[in-house]
This record gives sequence, C-alpha cells and structure tokens, in this order.
Amino acid sequence: MSSFRANRQHWNSISRAYQAEHDPQIGASPRLWGMYAIPDARLHALGEVAGRRVLELGCGAGQWSRSLAAEGAIVVGLDLSDAQLAAAASAMGAARFPLVQAAAEQIPFAPGSFDLVFCDHGGLSWAPPQLAVPEAARVLRRGGRLVFNATSPWFEVCYDSGSDRVTAGLRQDYFGLGAIAEDHGATSYQLTYGGCIRLLRGAGLVIDDLIEPRPGPGMRNGYARTDPPDWASRWPAEMLWIARKE
Ligand SMILES: C[S@@+](CC[C@H](N)C(=O)[O-])C[C@H]1O[C@@H](n2cnc3c(N)ncnc32)[C@H](O)[C@@H]1O
Repeated sequence: MSSFRANRQHWNSISRAYQAEHDPQIGASPRLWGMYAIPDARLHALGEVAGRRVLELGCGAGQWSRSLAAEGAIVVGLDLSDAQLAAAASAMGAARFPLVQAAAEQIPFAPGSFDLVFCDHGGLSWAPPQLAVPEAARVLRRGGRLVFNATSPWFEVCYDSGSDRVTAGLRQDYFGLGAIAEDHGATSYQLTYGGCIRLLRGAGLVIDDLIEPRPGPGMRNGYARTDPPDWASRWPAEMLWIARKE
C-alpha cells in the first residue's frame, strides 16, 4: 500500500486540470479506449453489459461508467481520489450509479460480487499490480471477466525523458520496467508482457485475448507526444487484456 497516499494526493491535485484537458476526449462519445480514444465498437473488448454487475477500477470522472450505466449495466465506479470522484458525481447522468472511494489494492467487496471488472489506465496502472490483479480476480464471479487497458512496454521503453516524447529508439531497459515515478511522489506501474501473463494466470484467470489497439492515420494521442507522430500505427502504444475467471 506504499503508493496509496501519494497517488491520492497526486490525483486530488491534478484532477481539475486533467478533466479540463482530457474530458472532451474521454467523454466525447461512449466507450472510448485509451490515449487515442479508439471506439470499443472497433475493438470489441467489453461486450454486452446490460443487466451485468460491473466494477470500474479507477473510474476517474466516470466517463466509462456513465456510458455503461446508460446501457443498463449495474455499475459501481471505484476510485482513490476525492476530487476525481467529485468530478464523477457532478457529471453523472440520468442513469445513476454508486461511487466508492477505495484503492484497487484493497477492494471493499465480497468475493464473486461482479460479472465484469474493467479499467482504462485506471487502478491496474496506478496500484501495484501484484496486489490489484488478485483483488480484481477475487471480486469476480466464476466465468466473470477482467478487461483492462494499460500502456504497453513498447511505449514505455521508447520514452525519452530528455525530450519528453516517445521515440523510435530503445531508451529504457525492458527488464527494468516496474514502478514509475510520477509528480508529487506518486507512482504508476508498468508490467512486462511476461509479468502480466504470470500475474493473471497466478490469480486464477485464463487469458482470452490481448488486443493491441492501433489508431488509424491522423488519430491524435491526447496524452503524449510521439516522434514520429504516427508512432502508434507502427508500434502498439497500449495493451488491452481480456481474461476470465475459471
Ligand atoms: C488516468 S485515470 C483513469 C480514469 C479514466 N479512465 C481516465 O482515462 O481518465 C487514473 C485514475 O486512477 C485512480 N487511481 C490512482 N491510484 C489508484 C488506486 N490505487 N486505486 C484506485 N484508483 C486509483 C486515479 O484517482 C484516477 O482517477
């Protein structure tokens, strides 16, 4: 739980600016994945949710949860940050859903409570995955699915801190990936491909798919500069895992 407090502090202090900058992209239409806002209608990652019990782990301002609630899902939005949850509460639409303040490291629900646990650069990127993945698996029912999108190791390894952009060169050690220092003493977490497979399988999950979202030409990265600009149409910027509890 060592990054818990600093991460909450970090997200509380950046929430207003983050939403001002990114909400127009994240919330532009329902079900948009990741840095390039790729529609789920193209990736088919989440599937039908009407009537399903769904937990968004690190819901931020709730753009995803809001869409799924409107589709008839029984959604809970969980987040660590008071400010992010306040943004979610004030943006809630007609289809209302509960918001819970908690950490992905310690999910306050009984085993088997959900049919689907998911996030988009949420709790599985901002909590130690060795803690958060088993927790997500615990609250899934048998046959339930864990779907999460996170930055790819390619993107992180090619990130050049000097120019603050993702490049076409290898800048960091793949085997050194793990905890990443963020502003305000916060920490995010980057898994390797092998590390992720071992973690999911170790938590009793079967991997059904690894989608590598690929933006079309001209689709803009709303979060990071890349060199070349079409970087993510050549290399995978994100990894979207789909796993199921046995
Ligand atoms: C990049 S946002 C993701 C939310 C939304 N999908 C988006 O793109 O804005 C990361 C979210 O994770 C939350 N978060 C950070 N650490 C967390 C933790 N340990 N447990 C749960 N949520 C956490 C932050 O408060 C933030 O709202």
